[in-house]
Amino acid sequence: MPVQIATAAPVAHAALLGLGVYRPRRVVPNAEIVERIDSSDEWIRTRSGIEARHWAEPDETIVSMSTAAAADALAAAGVTAQQIDAVILATSSQMVLGPSAGAVVATELGMHDTAAFDVSAGCAGFCYALANGANLVRAGQARHVLVIGVERLSDLLDRDDRTCAFIFADGAGAVVVGPSDAEGIGPVAWGSDGSQTAAIKQDKDFQQYFAEVAEAEATGGTTVRPYIRMNGTAVFRWAVTFLEKACRDALDQAGLTVEDLDAFVPHQANSRITDALVRALHMPENIAVARDIAETGNTSAASIPMAMEQLLRSGAAQPGDTALLLGFGAGLAYAGQVVKLPAIA
Ligand code: UT7
Repeated sequence: MPVQIATAAPVAHAALLGLGVYRPRRVVPNAEIVERIDSSDEWIRTRSGIEARHWAEPDETIVSMSTAAAADALAAAGVTAQQIDAVILATSSQMVLGPSAGAVVATELGMHDTAAFDVSAGCAGFCYALANGANLVRAGQARHVLVIGVERLSDLLDRDDRTCAFIFADGAGAVVVGPSDAEGIGPVAWGSDGSQTAAIKQDKDFQQYFAEVAEAEATGGTTVRPYIRMNGTAVFRWAVTFLEKACRDALDQAGLTVEDLDAFVPHQANSRITDALVRALHMPENIAVARDIAETGNTSAASIPMAMEQLLRSGAAQPGDTALLLGFGAGLAYAGQVVKLPAIA
C-alpha cells in the first residue's frame, strides 16, 4: 500500500472580514512639488486627478504603517492577532531584502510562529496577495490570513522627474480574510507581461549601482542612486486597451455581470484610466467608483485597500456591497477579483 499524504480539510468560502488603513501624517499638495518638475497644479489635476498625496516621515516605515493598518483591520474583523495563521504583505518599496516585512509585522502584532511572506507584483500586489490569502483559507491551510498592501514610494522618487514625482505616494491598507458562509472573494483574473518591464522599473539594479559607487570612489567621480522610472504613455495605453478584458474575466469567473456591481475599486493610477475603464465596461451610473487618487496619489500595492476604505468611510459604499477590484502596474502585472466589501474599524 503506497503511503498516502493527507490534504488539509478545505472550507467552502472565504471573505474579507475587516479592513484598516494607515495614511501618513504629512500631506503634500501639488503646489509643494510643481516648481521642481516645471509643472502646475492644474496640469497635475487634469492629467492625473491628483490634488495631494501623503509622503511618509522617517518613523512611518513599511513595518510601522503596516502594523497600524493591520491593527485596525483586526479590530474591524473582531479577530485577534493570535487567530491569524498567515501574513501576506505586498510591497515594491521595502528597502530591506531580508527578512520579509511580513515576518516583522507579524511579530510587531504579537503573533508567534505565524507563516509570513512578502509578495512583489507592483501595483497589482494587493490583489495577488488577496487571491493567495483567499485560496489558503479555502484550501484549509489557514483559518485567518492578514493581507497587507503597503508602500513608501517616496523613497524611490527622483523629485526632479516630472513623469513620476507627482504620482507616487505612501500608505498602507490591510484586510483580514477568513472563512464565510457565502463566497466573499471571487476567483482571480491575473497575468503579467515581462516583455514590457521597461514601462515601469527601477532604473538600475543595486549590483550596477554598487559597481558605479566603487568606480566613483576610485576615480573621484559621482554616481546617482537607483530611482523608479516610468514610461507613462506606454503604461497608460496598456491600461486603457488591455484591462477591460481583465475586468470582464473577473466578472465572468464570479458568474456576474457589470450590472451586479455596487462598486468599482481600480488601482488608483490615474483618474483618466479609471474613467476609460468605466466607459469601456459601460458601468451604470449608480456604481460607486473609487476616486481616492485625488487625496492619496498612487500608492501602488496599497491603493486598493486604501481606496476601499475611502469609499466605505464616505458612505458611497457599504460593507457587504459587491465590488470589482483591479490592480495593475509594473511587470506589467494585473489581478482582479469580485469581492463583498468588508467592515472598517
Ligand atoms: O501605478 C502604475 C501604473 N502607472 C500608471 O498607470 C500611470 C499611467 N500614465 C499616466 O498616468 C500618464 O501617462 C501621466 C500622468 C504620467 C502623464 O500624462 P500624459 O497625458 O500621458 O502626458 P504625456 O507624457 O503624454 O505628456 C503630455 C504633455 C507633454 O507636453 P507636449 O509635448 O504635449 O508639449 C509633456 O511634456 O505634458 C507634458 N508633461 C508635463 N507637463 C507638466 C509631462 N509631464 C508633465 C508634468 N507637468 N509633470
